[in-house]
Amino acid sequence: MPGLSVWYVRTALVYLALGLTFGMLMLWHKGMPIHPALWALLPAHIEFLLLGWTLQLAFGVAFWILPRFRTKRGNVRLAWLAYALLNAGIWLVTLDPWLGRLAGWGWTGRVLEALAVIAFALHAWPRIKPPGA
Ligand code: HEM
Repeated sequence: MPGLSVWYVRTALVYLALGLTFGMLMLWHKGMPIHPALWALLPAHIEFLLLGWTLQLAFGVAFWILPRFRTKRGNVRLAWLAYALLNAGIWLVTLDPWLGRLAGWGWTGRVLEALAVIAFALHAWPRIKPPGA
């Protein structure tokens, strides 16, 4: 597995652990109330599991497994850029309520996430090809 995939998959596993913990705490709180502030974890729960875990795992495995050009994986910089943009975006969206909604950090985060998808798609597109092409 290439180094970038290690980063993607390990980071994804950290988000999985955090997202599931937040979900577990909210579920517990639904059955046996602990503290109403726990509902503030819902946006982080959704963000961490949908993008931090699911999308990040898909990027990491795709970077590893898509067809190569002999031994090369194409424009690796774009895939690294996608990693940086995705994680910066996830944290900006997650911390938006604490950074001050009017400052627009949430929107900035969403834009970074969209740019991450574009960067990864640009990286992956030429690698989506039949064997030997
Ligand atoms: C990959 C796995 C998961 C994903 C993608 C996910 C995603 C979501 C989403 C999108 C919501 C918002 C639903 C809505 O507002 O209608 C939600 C809510 C919630 N999730 Fe998860 N979730 C996952 C796993 C879990 C797990 C394992 C637990 C518990 C151990 C959990 C506990 C909760 C709770 C308690 C809520 C709030 C439900 C409510 O509004 O009453 N989630 N989750």
